[in-house]
Parts: sequence; C-alpha cells; structure tokens
Amino acid sequence: MKALITSGGRGTRLRPITHTQNKHLIPIANKPILHYALEYVSEAGIKEVGIITNADTTDVQDAIGDGSKWGVDITYIPQSAPLGLGHVIKISEDFIGDDDFIFYLGDNIVVGGIERFINEFERAKSNCHLVLAKVKDPERFGVPEIEDKRIVRVEEKPDKPKSNYAVSGIYLYDKHIFEAVNNIEPSDRGELEISDAHQYLIENGYEVSFSEITGWWKDTGKPLDLLEANRLVLDNLESKYVDQSIDQDSTVLGRAEIAKSARIINSNIRGPAIIGKDCVIENSYIGPYTSIFDNTIILNSEVEYSIILDNCKIDDVDFRIESSLLGKDVEIVKASPKPKTHRFIIGNQSRIEII
Ligand code: G1P
Repeated sequence: MKALITSGGRGTRLRPITHTQNKHLIPIANKPILHYALEYVSEAGIKEVGIITNADTTDVQDAIGDGSKWGVDITYIPQSAPLGLGHVIKISEDFIGDDDFIFYLGDNIVVGGIERFINEFERAKSNCHLVLAKVKDPERFGVPEIEDKRIVRVEEKPDKPKSNYAVSGIYLYDKHIFEAVNNIEPSDRGELEISDAHQYLIENGYEVSFSEITGWWKDTGKPLDLLEANRLVLDNLESKYVDQSIDQDSTVLGRAEIAKSARIINSNIRGPAIIGKDCVIENSYIGPYTSIFDNTIILNSEVEYSIILDNCKIDDVDFRIESSLLGKDVEIVKASPKPKTHRFIIGNQSRIEII
C-alpha cells in the first residue's frame, strides 16, 4: 500500500492567509494541516508517500523534507496546472505502479486517523473504497447516490444532491483507477473530476465500497472555517504542560497544551487551548478553542475561540477577541486615547469587524 497526498492549489478561499502561505501549511492546533495527513499514513504503516505539489514553488518540499521525520520516504510529484484530481492520479501512475494506494487530499482533517479505512478496503476486497460524511451542504462536494447499501452513482457538486453525504477527501484504490482516469473527459470547468472517475468504475462493473465517518473537516469557503477545524482537533487534545511555565497567580482549567518555554503570568487559561513556544501571556484570559502559535505575546487582553499564528502581539485590547484568525506578525494594540479613532494598516483581502 502506498499513499498519494495532494498539497497543490492556490487556496483562494482562504485569503488573505494564503497570500503568503500554502494552505496545507497553515497550522491547526499549532500543527500544519499537511502534518496530519503524514502522521495518519505513517501510523497506518505506509512507507512510500507521493506528494503532489504546485510545479512553480518548492514551499512544501522546503517545509516537509524527505519524510524521515515521519519515518516515510517522500517522492514529490509536481503538477504543472490545476487540471483536477483525476489528473493528479494520472500523473502519479509511474510512482504508484501496480500497488493499491490511499489517495488523501492534504487539506482534509479526519479525527482518529485512516487505518480503519485501509482495513475496511482490504476487508471489502473492492476496487475503490470511498469514505462518506454526512454534511449540511452536499452541493459543495462529490455526492453519492445510495440504493440498497450500494453506491449507484457519484456526481460532482450537483445542483440537486441525491443524498446528504459528501465523498470526503480520503479514497482507496487498486490499479483500475488508472483505467478510469485515462478514459474520462474534462468537465465544464476543464478538470478531470475524481467523481467522474468513480462513476466510470461503477459503470464498468468495478466494485465501489464505502464507509461513513464523523469528525471530518475540510475548508468549505471562509477563512473562519479554519476555526471549526481547530475546534475539532482541540476537542481531542490531551493536557501537556509543566508547572514551571505557569506562575502562582495563574490558573489553567480544562485541557491545555503549553510549551515549556512559554510563560503564563497572572492569567487564566481555560482549555481546550494550545500555546506555543516562547509565548508570553500576561494579565490575560485565553478561552476555549484557542490556538496560539510560537513567539506570540498577549498582554492585558482576552482571546477566545481563535487561531493566532506566530509572532503576533495583542496588547491592552479592551474587548474580548473572539472567532478571530490572525496571520503571522500581526499586532493589535491600544491606541493613544485622543483622538478617539481606529487606525488600520491591513493587507489585501483582510476582514475586520468592529462594533
Ligand atoms: C474535491 C472533490 C470532491 C470531494 C472534495 C472532498 O472537491 O472534487 O468530490 O467531495 O474534494 O474534500 P474540491 O476540493 O475540488 O472542492
């Protein structure tokens, strides 16, 4: 069994964060999204991993390296243009050869890893195994039509979905998927659609099995959807901190992961929350579902249900900061009281809400 993981695309729906960062490298609960995929395949005992990248940059190669950190051997496969997931599989044929493989969209997060799906695929002895998740907005996904516990059709982003299920970004295949992607035509948006490949398999008598999951996330539109992924992951966080990081005037309630080099001074941390290396939290409140990445300073302020990336500074902010996503090197500080104005220096496609 090999693994194929995607890490390309432009992440346009997650701007402005993706102006300066590949979306697969954005940290969720202080860990880049792509690391989750690599951890899952490594836990499942897979050794050979192909990662599809944008051909015009090496940002993923630079961040991930040769895979030794996860005990896997990575082959990078550049994709020259965004021609669809079917095309991704097509250009990976040499890497996969005749092996079975798991195809994992690197922007998906699934609680509990992927080993169970590999086992189900092997038990089903099918040609393709799809992992389905119940969603409120199936029209954004590949949608299966199910009759008598069998998938009889798969449609890509249908106007009238035939079920409440999305085909999640975790697929298991044998070599027949190559026959499928080599026989389908590009869709109206010019892409070889993965759903059309699945439809090809169904129509040509191949066995398509499935299982259902809960605890699945993928970005579906707005940057704030990342907060939902953060919540999902933090819900399963285990406490990890040493008393030396926390002074006597501070309290930590609930589950929290706090780096050894962080300093919590006269503050209240209410988990689940994660605080990275060399952060300083002083005279402040950090509420549930907050992830604070390395080197961030929070003074005399309150933050809850938010993701704060590295090197930020929040100083003396009167109102609680909530449902917020701060990129790297962002500062929110109190201005001098007169004149009473808001002053902003904000990059392209940012969003600010004020009362
Ligand atoms: C892609 C697939 C879609 C699938 C989804 C899961 O959608 O085309 O069938 O349900 O991934 O993550 P896209 O990410 O291109 O919107």
